[in-house]
Amino acid sequence: MTGKTGFIVSLTVLLMLVNSARAVTVVHSNDVMGDIEPCGCRNNPQGGMARKANLIKRIAEVRGESFIVQVDSGDLLFPTMNLPKLLEKQAEVQAGYLIRSMDILHHDVVVPGEKDFALGTKVFEKLIKDSKIHFLAANLKRKDGKHFLDPYVILSGKNSDGKPVKVAILGLVGEDLDWPKDLKATSMFAAAKKEVAELKNKANYIIAVTHQGLENDNRLAEKVPGIDLIVGAHSQSFLQKPAKVGSTAIVQSSFRNQYLGVLSLSHPLDLEKYELVGLDPGYESAQPGLIDLLIKEFKKAIADLNSQEEVAEQEALKNTRKAGADGLGSGDEVKFQTFPACASCHMKQFDFWRKTKHANALFPLMEKQQVRNKECLACHTLGLGDPQGYHNVNTLAEYFQENLPQANTKPSPKPSSSPSSDSGNSSEMDSPSSSERTEGELPSKLKASLSPEELGTFMKSVHEADSLKSEVKFFKDGKAYQVKDAVRILSRSWAPVSCENCHLPGRDHPFSGKYSKNVESNVCMGCHNAERAPGWYNSSGKPDLKVIESKRKLVTCPAGDLSDTAE
Ligand code: HEC
Ligand code: HEC
Ligand code: HEC
Ligand code: HEC
Repeated sequence: MTGKTGFIVSLTVLLMLVNSARAVTVVHSNDVMGDIEPCGCRNNPQGGMARKANLIKRIAEVRGESFIVQVDSGDLLFPTMNLPKLLEKQAEVQAGYLIRSMDILHHDVVVPGEKDFALGTKVFEKLIKDSKIHFLAANLKRKDGKHFLDPYVILSGKNSDGKPVKVAILGLVGEDLDWPKDLKATSMFAAAKKEVAELKNKANYIIAVTHQGLENDNRLAEKVPGIDLIVGAHSQSFLQKPAKVGSTAIVQSSFRNQYLGVLSLSHPLDLEKYELVGLDPGYESAQPGLIDLLIKEFKKAIADLNSQEEVAEQEALKNTRKAGADGLGSGDEVKFQTFPACASCHMKQFDFWRKTKHANALFPLMEKQQVRNKECLACHTLGLGDPQGYHNVNTLAEYFQENLPQANTKPSPKPSSSPSSDSGNSSEMDSPSSSERTEGELPSKLKASLSPEELGTFMKSVHEADSLKSEVKFFKDGKAYQVKDAVRILSRSWAPVSCENCHLPGRDHPFSGKYSKNVESNVCMGCHNAERAPGWYNSSGKPDLKVIESKRKLVTCPAGDLSDTAE
């Protein structure tokens, strides 16, 4: 969908809302899972805080509404309870930025889910410390029985007719969820009954923001009358129309800010006017706003964090001289050959692969300024997080300067412009070629590196070249090489999605290792999961075998023995 049609669609959605009497407007989200910006893996990806900002702005403008109550019912900060170690630090930074963006939007209430404690209670407390958001939970207690967060908050504002309105918001969480050891969820019903009784005479509306799943929300509505609206989470339910139990309405809006629920409060609630608004490109900013700038800063912070971390890691490696730690190692410890090595024997398959989208998978990350984000790199490269994979987001490919095919090419004296490609890289090399080298003897065999941007641009030209004989420019000397020669310049390349992502690491191949020719579709689905490639799955979330078969056809390398590769 183009931005323009998206805008028209979105505007009509909101105009429908204008007809309702102006009142307090509730905007709700759940299971955002740390998403600040949609990753762009799918077509027309929905979501993102920049678009949410524009939705809130339009509600205020189109409806002349100023009393907008924003609530989120948890699993806000992290995608999973079990964050890979690799992503812990950047996930914390990301969560911090997400909260900052919500503060900028004057977000009112969050009730945490169990995933919000993926990094422990202390990190959670640190993250919310400076926020103005009310983090609530009436039945989440510390070990000593004290409330961990406030049970409720009462927000006051004015209705369109100038009359004061009070909205009480109560936080409740599921008792049997996996809360951290230093917290305990007590009876949800007991807490709900107690607080509703207390709030009944203090506010015009009572909203329960809950993190416990739709079934428990139904039971809550049944057993505890007096709640006007339950905003749920956890089951990631996509309720196009609110559920109604007695006089209580229950809403939930899927996940990752793909949809936001919008409802005006009235007595009784007018559920016909309820809207689930998809955050599509129609909500993009014409001019970068505050949130867009914050997101830019966030990306830079992640890139800096990962770069610094790598420098420290490289230092540590240098000290321990752990052979093979960068995947090169010696003899047995070589785990990944990476595509330039495969290409040297399988030129025909290389030629096929380079024209698939996989060979260009680094470039879209560059366009999104996310090329140093490990979350993205995990699916757009090879070997991240593997002890013998790569550890340096600034060095996604390496080459020996002597590999440059033209002997008279004078290599630039600087090994690389990227900050962490210090000589530490090459000193770990235990391969025969580097062991011949004595201390002090330098440039001709120095291992040099390509930054992600250099590699991404180079691979794009390889991907787009007409034939193996077409010429592409190589970064470090600015010269043009035929594709078949250019690929030989690289000694190792951890990106983009390449041979061993599908064929699995092949360190001993072809000498002793048995190489399976089969590529299981499970391998594909490790990256093409339901979130990133929804088209691969049917509506009930099961893999759509027909689609997958057709996708396989697009990437299945041609047969051909090695003689085909002679030229
Ligand atoms: C779980 C694996 C996974 C992760 C993590 C992931 N991606 Fe992707 N990405 C994919 C897959 C698979 C596709 C191809 C989807 C398709 O076309 O069906 C894709 C496609 C894309 C595309 C579209 C490329 C094109 O040619 O239009 C962009 C842009 C993108 N991803 C960016 C990102 C960013 C940014 C991140 C990190 C925030 C990220 N991805 C994280 C798997 C992933
Ligand atoms: C030194 C040359 C060489 C290198 C490097 C090399 N291969 Fe091979 N490859 C071979 C030979 C030889 C065969 C066996 C051909 C045959 O049996 O028909 C083969 C066979 C294969 C097969 C088919 C297996 C089968 O059962 O028929 C696959 C898949 C394969 N290689 C993938 C790779 C990948 C991926 C890489 C890089 C990680 C790679 N190869 C690197 C030489 C090489
Ligand atoms: C997206 C996954 C994917 C990538 C990436 C990939 N391949 Fe393949 N390759 C396949 C599939 C699928 C087959 C067919 C085998 C099968 O059906 O399981 C195949 C087959 C092969 C074969 C055997 C051909 C034959 O029938 O004799 C070789 C050799 C091979 N690939 C080499 C490579 C090399 C080298 C690269 C990197 C330049 C590469 N592949 C990248 C998926 C991939
Ligand atoms: C390491 C992660 C990874 C694996 C494994 C992987 N892919 Fe992909 N795939 C991607 C990414 C990332 C893209 C997007 C690249 C781009 O557009 O720049 C993509 C794009 C594609 C596309 C082009 C977009 C589309 O849907 O038409 C096809 C087809 C595809 N993959 C098929 C497969 C198949 C089949 C397998 C298994 C044999 C597979 N992939 C394995 C990450 C992966």
